[in-house]
Amino acid sequence: MQRSDEQRAGPVEVASLGEDMPLLEGLRTARAIRRLRPDPVPRALIRKVCEAGTFAPSGGNRQPWVFVAVDDPETRRWVADRYRPIFQRYIREPLARADREGFPAHLRRNMTASLHLAEHLHEAPVLLFIAGWKRRDEEQLQALYPCAQNVLLACRAVGLGASFTTLHRIFGEECDRRLGLPPEIPSAVMIPIGWPVGRHGVPPREPVDGKLFWNAFDASGVEEKRPIR
Ligand SMILES: Cc1cc2nc3c(=O)[nH]c(=O)nc-3n(C[C@H](O)[C@H](O)[C@H](O)COP(=O)(O)O)c2cc1C
Repeated sequence: MQRSDEQRAGPVEVASLGEDMPLLEGLRTARAIRRLRPDPVPRALIRKVCEAGTFAPSGGNRQPWVFVAVDDPETRRWVADRYRPIFQRYIREPLARADREGFPAHLRRNMTASLHLAEHLHEAPVLLFIAGWKRRDEEQLQALYPCAQNVLLACRAVGLGASFTTLHRIFGEECDRRLGLPPEIPSAVMIPIGWPVGRHGVPPREPVDGKLFWNAFDASGVEEKRPIR
């Protein structure tokens, strides 16, 4: 389906959109999409990806998640105006390091894409916040992250661009107040969603064979197996 058709997605199209995406193909190609078109996304489609989120596992099946989908331009701008300077400060040094020769190109691309998102966040048509009820005064991130991943996979299936972010938590209390979230339901994840500028594709990942061990971890060559720092 072409993007222009997706944008017009009515109730029938929303019901069928993404339903034929094979699960493993979808998850292998659900890279972070941070270049988004400002065109609106139907609310019914946002509801659909949130519904996918609700199928995530959670301890005791308590389903602590709460979604706040922000499509109001003023609130998006309010969030973006706080996110942008914090991210710019955060990325400045890593980006300078990435200018050095020999720095992996895919990591540099990842940083510039994150910076692009920060600088254009106000243009993302929907900022989807995933918040969750605390339990025994603790956040239930272990439930909210699988929920967020399901949302990302559903976005992939229906052709929407999306990425996992948490940086807003630096101004989380202020942000939650703005979103009407009480202290017992803090937001954990913000997923900017929109129609992608580019295409979904296989993200750069290290081969599983360096990550998988049978019966016990093999410490030989452990330094080479360390994740990128
Ligand atoms: C817990 C967590 C927090 C993240 N926070 C941010 C964030 O604040 N901003 C951002 O641009 N990306 C954030 N990301 C996205 C990662 O940077 C992204 O998943 C990674 O670069 C891989 O991208 P790829 O799938 O396109 O390869 C976060 C991801 C995770 C899992």
